[in-house]
Amino acid sequence: MTGRRPEAKAAETTTPRIGVVFSAEDIADRVAALARQIGADFGADMLIVAILKGSFVFAADLVRALHHAGVRPEIDFLTLSSYGAGTEPGAIRVGQDVTSRLDGREVLLLDDILDSGRTVGFAKDLLERRGAKVRVCVLLDKRGRRAAPVAADYVGFVCPNRFVVGYGLDQAHYWRELPFIGAIDGI
Ligand code: IMP
Ligand code: MG
Repeated sequence: MTGRRPEAKAAETTTPRIGVVFSAEDIADRVAALARQIGADFGADMLIVAILKGSFVFAADLVRALHHAGVRPEIDFLTLSSYGAGTEPGAIRVGQDVTSRLDGREVLLLDDILDSGRTVGFAKDLLERRGAKVRVCVLLDKRGRRAAPVAADYVGFVCPNRFVVGYGLDQAHYWRELPFIGAIDGI
């Protein structure tokens, strides 16, 4: 066998170049700092609600950093979809709802990115209507893109106005596994 398999060549030519926007090291440092700040602000009865799917990597790192900061939160998940398989927004739908008690709870609502604000705004309303006191933490904030009146109480990084992937963020369901946050060339 001399030449390479045709499918290997096809994969090579269709793999886009991804430029690093926030490195794994920068993210780890920022997550640790956020955890210290959040740990100082919340009381003992803390509930974290992480919006899936996008926040799963951020949530996993943040809760471990919170543990090192002496915080013992209850952790729950809310599955929402605000995008279809592309990069344009659609209607928000609840997939899996939270199961924890919410009335009177101090909730930290986590998401990967605040873009138009519709997803976090929707989730915050949902939890507040059930009696929770909600503060919002997002890893990334695209400040110029807001369409809904929502602000985050804790922000990892202000994000450039580019479509980014990795560290839980996807483009058409792929790239969530990247250990850094990057921008795909051409998007
Ligand atoms: P929003 O409702 O417009 O604020 O969008 C929030 C959701 O859209 C996030 O939870 C992400 O899943 C997705 N999203 C927004 N911007 C990006 C991006 O640059 N990359 C990947 N996903 C994004
Ligand atoms: Mg997404």
